[in-house]
Amino acid sequence: MKLFIDDAHIEDIKRIYEYYPVDGVTTNPSILYKTGKNPLETLKEIRAFIGPDAELFAQAVAEDAEGMVKDARFITELVGKNTVVKIPSTPEGFKAIMALKKEGIRTCGTVVYTPMQAYLAAKAGASYVAPYVNRIDNMGYDGVKVVAEIQEILKNNNMDCEVLAASFKNSQQVMEIARMGCGSATASPSVIDAFVRNAAIDGAVNDFVSDFEKLTGRRTMTDLK
Ligand code: G3P
Repeated sequence: MKLFIDDAHIEDIKRIYEYYPVDGVTTNPSILYKTGKNPLETLKEIRAFIGPDAELFAQAVAEDAEGMVKDARFITELVGKNTVVKIPSTPEGFKAIMALKKEGIRTCGTVVYTPMQAYLAAKAGASYVAPYVNRIDNMGYDGVKVVAEIQEILKNNNMDCEVLAASFKNSQQVMEIARMGCGSATASPSVIDAFVRNAAIDGAVNDFVSDFEKLTGRRTMTDLK
């Protein structure tokens, strides 16, 4: 499973890249809003940091298909070929995805709450579909189950489209997605940190250092040189 950072704060992105094996960055207008900065500058800054080969997701904001196509062309010109343009999985969005497919611009059908939305986005030509796991859970449905149903639809219909599971609020949700061999997931820095935020892990690591120090009076193997 590929793992993306669902955030646009450059310092958080740099920190997560330093400590964790991640594959790229996903954004949307609300995530960009949280930075309080010019969105174009933010996207360029993220691209400069992650390099030309990592995937960066940025969303078209226009509400009609023609505007989405223009937004998508502009975004990909601005931040490079490994940029995937997120397009809401709505009728206008499907129209835009079909047009962008013909132009060779890769898209992610986003705002996915139902399996058949994902089916239509994939059939229209999206490279990814992004179901919103936590938001689905909050509606009283089972977000993980919706992801499983989407995976099944894509596989059984030989659709060349990958699931990018999104909208997580805890590591349990991401673990369930990883268990099912989902293609990709995107999570905020705090959710990624929570994969290993556990007193038992810290305690075990501290015990090893402390026992070694009691044995040798040193805190690292290198100190024994
Ligand atoms: O990538 C989509 C995602 O950002 C939505 O997540 O946390 O706003 O439900 P959230």
